[in-house]
Amino acid sequence: MLNLFYPAARAILFLLEAERAHHLSMAGLRHTEKLGLLKSMTTEPESKPVTFAGLTFPNPVGLAAGLDKEANTIDALGRLGFGHLEVGTLTPKPQDGNEFPRLFRLPQHKALINRMGFNNPGIDQGLANARSATSFKGILGVNIGKNKVTPNEEANDDYAIAFEKAYPWADYITANFSSPNTPGLRELQSEGSAAKLLKTLKNLQSKLHKETGRYVPFALKVAPDLEEKQITGLSRVFRDGGLDFVIATNTTLEREAVKGHPSAKEAGGLSGAPLTSHSTEVIAQFHAGLGKDVPIIGAGGIFSAEDALAKKAAGASLVQIYTGFVYRGPALIHEIIRAW
Ligand SMILES: Cc1cc2nc3c(=O)[nH]c(=O)nc-3n(C[C@H](O)[C@H](O)[C@H](O)COP(=O)(O)O)c2cc1C
Repeated sequence: MLNLFYPAARAILFLLEAERAHHLSMAGLRHTEKLGLLKSMTTEPESKPVTFAGLTFPNPVGLAAGLDKEANTIDALGRLGFGHLEVGTLTPKPQDGNEFPRLFRLPQHKALINRMGFNNPGIDQGLANARSATSFKGILGVNIGKNKVTPNEEANDDYAIAFEKAYPWADYITANFSSPNTPGLRELQSEGSAAKLLKTLKNLQSKLHKETGRYVPFALKVAPDLEEKQITGLSRVFRDGGLDFVIATNTTLEREAVKGHPSAKEAGGLSGAPLTSHSTEVIAQFHAGLGKDVPIIGAGGIFSAEDALAKKAAGASLVQIYTGFVYRGPALIHEIIRAW
């Protein structure tokens, strides 16, 4: 029922400023779920379990990070059929993010540009919100980042703080070091910095595994704006360092495909259709470098089952959607699951 209703709801939401529409739809989802109505408006997705990084995902489709930054809409989003939800990015301290406006629609291109800048309630509040979810039975990923005020030299401390806090509550953790909206963050993707971050988190994971008896796998999330040589180098670092898995990709700084659009010059990361084939290529390159040792979750401009299957053919074991979900609604989740 929600699938039928979504195109009309979207037409109204798209009349509103983008971030306002986002908050309104998230609040609407939460209220409908609280009233017990969302269950009757949605259908259970087909069961298509995928074993990945030692976890059993009920189906291959997840929500990419950044939509539920506060981790307060888990039950409602779960009802829509997602097999996994990645909440966050959560940073050690709460932060407001960048000035408004910071989210732009480019409907002609089925795209978004955002420079949100990790607006989030902080890891403690985010996890408290996540703990109050009751009905979601899928896999919960917690995406972590560094605060804007933390210099890159101390970035690993921020990741370590958030990692340790998230560990008891997350099924997996993603360290996001590829957002274009935190100044200097992508510099952490250099081989040297990536190796250090990976070592810090691996050591912490090993300590927490011993202490808790529970192994929580973690991913690093990469940008699509990497040269082939960098991908080869990073793949070696990831393999040698024992990374559990990779999420590819984040948003792009490229603007070629949207040139001439009034919002094309807005600073930030571009997502959606202009990213589809490029992120698939990056997945294929990482897959070539990583082999079977380090599996991949693919994201970037998935608008159809075909787009998702192309990511699978390139080497992704699971997929995540964000911009395609905004444009197409929950029908997209079911469509991909059926075709997978
Ligand atoms: C508005 C917006 C906010 C985002 N925030 C985050 C974030 O906080 N952390 C993160 O790792 N990725 C974030 N992303 C990136 C998405 O998770 C995803 O990797 C990217 O948008 C590509 O997928 P898509 O084309 O399906 O949107 C954000 C994307 C958008 C559009």
